[in-house]
Amino acid sequence: MAQLQVEHIAKDYPTRADRLTVLRDVSFAAAAGQSVAIVGPSGSGKSTLLSIIGTLEHPTSGRVLLDGLDPAGLDEPRLAAFRNERIGFVFQDHHLLPQCTVLENVLVPTVAAGATSAESTGRARELIDRVGLGHRLEHRPAELSGGERQRVALARALICRPAVLLADEPTGNLDRTTAGRIGELLLALHEQEQMILLVVTHSERLAGLMAQQFELDDGTLKPLDA
Ligand SMILES: Nc1ncnc2c1ncn2[C@@H]1O[C@H](COP(=O)(O)OP(=O)(O)O)[C@@H](O)[C@H]1O
Ligand SMILES: [Mg+2]
Repeated sequence: MAQLQVEHIAKDYPTRADRLTVLRDVSFAAAAGQSVAIVGPSGSGKSTLLSIIGTLEHPTSGRVLLDGLDPAGLDEPRLAAFRNERIGFVFQDHHLLPQCTVLENVLVPTVAAGATSAESTGRARELIDRVGLGHRLEHRPAELSGGERQRVALARALICRPAVLLADEPTGNLDRTTAGRIGELLLALHEQEQMILLVVTHSERLAGLMAQQFELDDGTLKPLDA
């Protein structure tokens, strides 16, 4: 069963004047099937924390272990493979490829992992069905609404059966009703796939759907008061 350990993560950025400390000491753990919301004001380091957990950025100190493995020790090709196979990302903006169809967009991570097999095409179709877009396989992102694009982004994030799904303000660009539907869909997919789900959000409603809630405040993570 997948296990994520975030241990004493600190991150500072050098600036012209001095160093900007974004994260001071962030620790938490989560196991497969658990969901965690992280809230906090703009600029509090939420995206930085997700980027570090997703191996897109290095911490200044501390470490992240997935099933006991610290990906910081991997060389670049192995790190890219690790990220592709074990981590799913959903961003505020969908980041879909405009020239590709819905089906092709969902298959992109499997191409990076090697040849696209009949099995991955089957899983892509099934995921697209589950996010309610089975009738839109050949459509391009420009032909979809914001909520539909985010549904495609969810299917793409899950195609490689990641151990961890990282969602950074996944409903931030959507109207309230659409955001509510995406939140429910995220939860349903989490229930089915049983990955570790980490969601950064401004939405109290979305945060409230997760089993655990933390607030990022002054570079540390605190349990959010109910
Ligand atoms: N590459 C960078 N270089 C310098 N400062 C950065 C960099 N990335 C983020 N920051 C700063 O770190 C702080 C936290 O940013 P971020 O993690 O994006 O916050 P949030 O997602 O909570 O809004 C901000 O003050 C931001 O300006
Ligand atoms: Mg952010």
